[in-house]
Amino acid sequence: NTVFRGRHFINLEDFTKEELDTMLDVSLDLKRKFAMGEDTNYLHNKTGFLMFFEQSTRTRNSMEAGMAQLGGHAGFLDSSSMQIAHGETAKDTAIILSRFGHMIACRYCNWGRGNQYLTEMAKWSSVPVMNLQDDLYHPFQGLADLLTIKEKHQDLRRKKISIIWAYAESHKKPISVPVTQVLLFPRYGMDVWLAYPKGWELPEWVIEQAKANAEKHGGTLTITHDEAAAYKDADIVIPKSWGNWVTDQTGATVTGATAVIDDALVSNKSWKCTEAKMATASKDVMYMHALPADRNNEVEDSVIDGPHSIAYDAAENRLHTAKAVMTLLVGGK
Ligand code: CP
Repeated sequence: NTVFRGRHFINLEDFTKEELDTMLDVSLDLKRKFAMGEDTNYLHNKTGFLMFFEQSTRTRNSMEAGMAQLGGHAGFLDSSSMQIAHGETAKDTAIILSRFGHMIACRYCNWGRGNQYLTEMAKWSSVPVMNLQDDLYHPFQGLADLLTIKEKHQDLRRKKISIIWAYAESHKKPISVPVTQVLLFPRYGMDVWLAYPKGWELPEWVIEQAKANAEKHGGTLTITHDEAAAYKDADIVIPKSWGNWVTDQTGATVTGATAVIDDALVSNKSWKCTEAKMATASKDVMYMHALPADRNNEVEDSVIDGPHSIAYDAAENRLHTAKAVMTLLVGGK
């Protein structure tokens, strides 16, 4: 008897496992209907606002296309062209936008501020506020990852999934994807490995919560600095980010002139995902990456383009999971 309508979508931890399973079921139903060309006008006459403080390919377009396919309208808002640029608060922005439409979604990855901003908007908004990625969480990515893995493995219990990341609180790198994944996968009874060179730790509260989730749901969490151990016999590997994807002062991912090349990343380039490393994993190992990927430094083309890669499948599922969340929270019961 779950009520979805009107709830915010900021962190997957706010939803029970049963509620997440409903989101996955609805995603698969919408995916089937999309393939069949069936009408899915569940959000007819609804308006959603998509606010972006940073760049996006997958998130923006899955939400815009998704809203159109659900019969509604999405308005794209670049924060730099809003009155936020003149200091308008999250509170005032949320109150006004929620009087104009039916949902507000926002990407704000600024270190130490993004999640606070989203939470403040949710406090004042009278319509659902959705997190399109902040400094701590990326719930739409987590849900699409989960759907993609479940399409390949019905039963996730005791599957070894290795998150091999160079993002850490101490380096003020965005940690939203690994935090979301390390909290989520133990809830499905998976054996989660978190591998990184020393010095790239996630916050202690994340590890404590991930351990608690593992204990409750029969999964495990192993932390290692031994990359080979993380690959060995893994069912799924998620190696990122050892390349040129670096952040600017706000925590946004950038390349080019504003990029600050991190020496620590350069010195750990040996952590690139290679065919040789993949060969030590399970014979059916799946390679995942949230994308965008730095093909020069993060992964060999033969891996990301190879038969074990489900990176594009996960990106495709961003559309169907986005539509499921919007349908349930904006149009659901
Ligand atoms: N994975 C992801 O969120 O992609 P974008 O940054 O392109 O939205």
